[in-house]
Amino acid sequence: MSRNKVYIKTWGCQMNTYDSTKLSHYINKELNFAIVTIAKHANIFILNTCSIREKAQEKLFHQLGRWKIFKQNNPNIIICVGGCVAAQEGEKIFKRASYVDIIFGPQTIHRLPKMIQDVYNFKKKLIDISFPKTEKFNYLPVIKTTQHTSYVTIIEGCNKYCTYCIVPFTRGKEISRPYKDILLEIQQLIIQGIKEIHLLGQNVNSYKYIDIDNNIITFDKLLIMISNIKGIYRIRYTTSNPQDFTQGLINVYGKIPQLVNFLHLPVQSGSEKILSLMKRRYSLTQYKNIIYQLKKIRPNIHISSDFIVGFPGETQEDFNQTIQLILDMDIDMSYSFIYSARPGTIASKMVDNVSLQEKKRRLYILQDYIQQQTKKFSSYMLHSIQTVLVEGISKHNQFFFGKTENNRIVFFKSTYNCVGKIVKVYINNFYLYTLYATFVSMH
Ligand code: 5AD
Ligand code: SF4
Repeated sequence: MSRNKVYIKTWGCQMNTYDSTKLSHYINKELNFAIVTIAKHANIFILNTCSIREKAQEKLFHQLGRWKIFKQNNPNIIICVGGCVAAQEGEKIFKRASYVDIIFGPQTIHRLPKMIQDVYNFKKKLIDISFPKTEKFNYLPVIKTTQHTSYVTIIEGCNKYCTYCIVPFTRGKEISRPYKDILLEIQQLIIQGIKEIHLLGQNVNSYKYIDIDNNIITFDKLLIMISNIKGIYRIRYTTSNPQDFTQGLINVYGKIPQLVNFLHLPVQSGSEKILSLMKRRYSLTQYKNIIYQLKKIRPNIHISSDFIVGFPGETQEDFNQTIQLILDMDIDMSYSFIYSARPGTIASKMVDNVSLQEKKRRLYILQDYIQQQTKKFSSYMLHSIQTVLVEGISKHNQFFFGKTENNRIVFFKSTYNCVGKIVKVYINNFYLYTLYATFVSMH
């Protein structure tokens, strides 16, 4: 019998990308199935879905419709739906797409290999969208993302219940991973040559782990422990929340040189009224204060943020305040979205009084401002020396490429083999997020 081949399609956030990488690892290791990148070569299909924004269901059934055709030609094909839409819709997916075999949630991905085997053995449909407490952490394989950087999960789920957000319903309550496991995983990664660790979680800065001696390990303490691991060169994290941005966390920016000069700190809106309707639980003064304090410690820190435009009740004046905040706080980059009502959320019951056309207009304006900001900050980097972690060589023009601390891609030429290395370069040209440079030296 030929080897089973699995095709995985992933939508959504870094967490989903990370989960899919883990999924391929489990499937490969536990079942010895091959992972393929061309759908028509597969006999097992997995869709890792995202429900954070609009049209998640339509997108799901559209995709499933395409895979249904494969199954009509080969009834032995297995189709699995995972991720946040699976958690949200559950059994309803079977009702609308009877050809789906397995539904699993973000917290049960490690159970999928067994579920696939059971479908083969017992020829029945299976669903498991539960939130088993810390079980998922026990199955975490060590995963390298590139030659030099790796994601490491430190916390899962969210307790915040911002009024627009589906995540607490689909990913469950916050669970912090035991800090010793985190440190061990990072040590293993460093031995493998990883230089940059990217800590992941819906709210990394609400990390809190109480050990058997009743010591409370908070995110700032965890960062200090991580920075003490020999060989760690850069530390990044996403996503953090202004509500939990403690003084301790601000202070570590003065103590940990490996923490990058870049922070993604989603604010969502520049209007106090909208923040309150969103139940974000911080004021603009608090948000600004975090940034002012960080800039005192790290004058070159770059700030990125998430914004939602067209939240119910958002007036032109509220929107203008968001633009003003972008300018006042020197926001460098953003992920910005049109508000979309998510089923079961508090905001979905509010009157959505901003027309789609107006939402689109505001998004366009906001993104234009952000682009100007990005350009401005890239231009400030001109003629400076930057440190780059080199990811590879571009096939197109044979330039080396890598990232600066503040998430810009840099291209440069060198006669040395720089891949996987840390180098110093001199910036001599830029285009939005992309910089061109001359090689200076190995770090
Ligand atoms: N509509 C639009 N954007 C949303 N986000 C979360 N929920 C919604 C929604 N219902 C955005 C927020 C969050 C990012 C991950 O997705 O900006 O920070
Ligand atoms: Fe969603 Fe708010 Fe939790 Fe972020 S903090 S995942 S926006 S509920």
